[in-house]
Amino acid sequence: PNTKHQRYREAHELTAKLYSYILMNTDAGVQALTYLEKRGISRKTMVEFRLGLAPKAGDTVVTFLRKRGFQDAELVACGLAVEMGTRTLDRFRGRLMIPILDKKGEVIAFGGRTMEQDVKPKYLNSPENDLFHKSRLLYNYHIARKTIRRDRTALLLEGYMDVISLSQAGIQQGVATLGTSLTEEQAKLLKSDCDKVIISYDGDEAGRKAAVRAIDILVEAGLEPLILRIPDGLDPDEYVQTHGGESFKRLLGRQTLSVVQFLLDDLRQRANLVSSVGRTEYVRQALQLLAERATPVEQEYELRNLSQEFNLSVETLKEELRTFAKQNI
Ligand code: GTP
Ligand code: MN
Ligand code: MN
Ligand code: MN
Ligand code: MN
Repeated sequence: PNTKHQRYREAHELTAKLYSYILMNTDAGVQALTYLEKRGISRKTMVEFRLGLAPKAGDTVVTFLRKRGFQDAELVACGLAVEMGTRTLDRFRGRLMIPILDKKGEVIAFGGRTMEQDVKPKYLNSPENDLFHKSRLLYNYHIARKTIRRDRTALLLEGYMDVISLSQAGIQQGVATLGTSLTEEQAKLLKSDCDKVIISYDGDEAGRKAAVRAIDILVEAGLEPLILRIPDGLDPDEYVQTHGGESFKRLLGRQTLSVVQFLLDDLRQRANLVSSVGRTEYVRQALQLLAERATPVEQEYELRNLSQEFNLSVETLKEELRTFAKQNI
């Protein structure tokens, strides 16, 4: 047993309990409780996800852990404290705290969200150390795993709040990366428990780009990605808080796109279909995409759509498709 890691774990476990106590049982927590209630998070969910509050005061955690035998240097090394000149201060101050648990269900890091509009960064995460590697972890994996294995399907989300709100609404297979794009290691982790991954990122440009990257990493790992589009520019958290869990499940049934459909749609959003040059360019890119990624059935289906929309014969489209297929070999 690595005693250094053991001590880091213990420090995090104690800190999570302290943050939770401050949120749930002190005057300092009232404002944060109100914030969470406004966002539709129940007490039960707060307890389940072990949400907490880092107080504004500069050294609450440091003082608390010193009394329990921890050295300042350890607290800095494991990311709970920072050095400021000659003083050691808490890293997280005045933030809503989201514990990040490892496979064993033990707290090894935190994400901290500001509750104020103008504070940057919006999220402050624990720094990496030799216990916490964010590229190897997925938020909520230790809980979601059971459902992911049962359904052979995972739901990949952008943020902590998406995972938490969906779980509260009865959708348990949600996991999220920790503010970075999906890594190969995370894809391998998923591959050990499922075959399909439904990506449900934000509908904005950043989310679409991240989805395109995630698709390739998932395919590389031997997984089948599907993409869930959420209407009205909402993220999964906002959607489920507005429309409820049953409505989200219906979306899962109806609005999941195959990779080919999603990428075609992505091309289309960028295309300039009012100009004839833009239309030709779109058709060319679409055919290339179909040649590279689509199954014969998908090709047939999408060729018919293109044929109708752009008033081109299926034969012509097929001919051009074959030129891409050849280049590919
Ligand atoms: P919330 O619903 O309050 O989480 O806000 P949001 O939906 O606008 O969050 P957003 O979609 O911007 O962020 C999704 C995820 O990206 C978060 O859960 C974080 O993991 C990460 N993230 C967002 N902002 C930051 C940031 O400022 N710093 C870091 N490190 N990560 C961030
Ligand atoms: Mn980051
Ligand atoms: Mn976003
Ligand atoms: Mn979001
Ligand atoms: Mn959100």
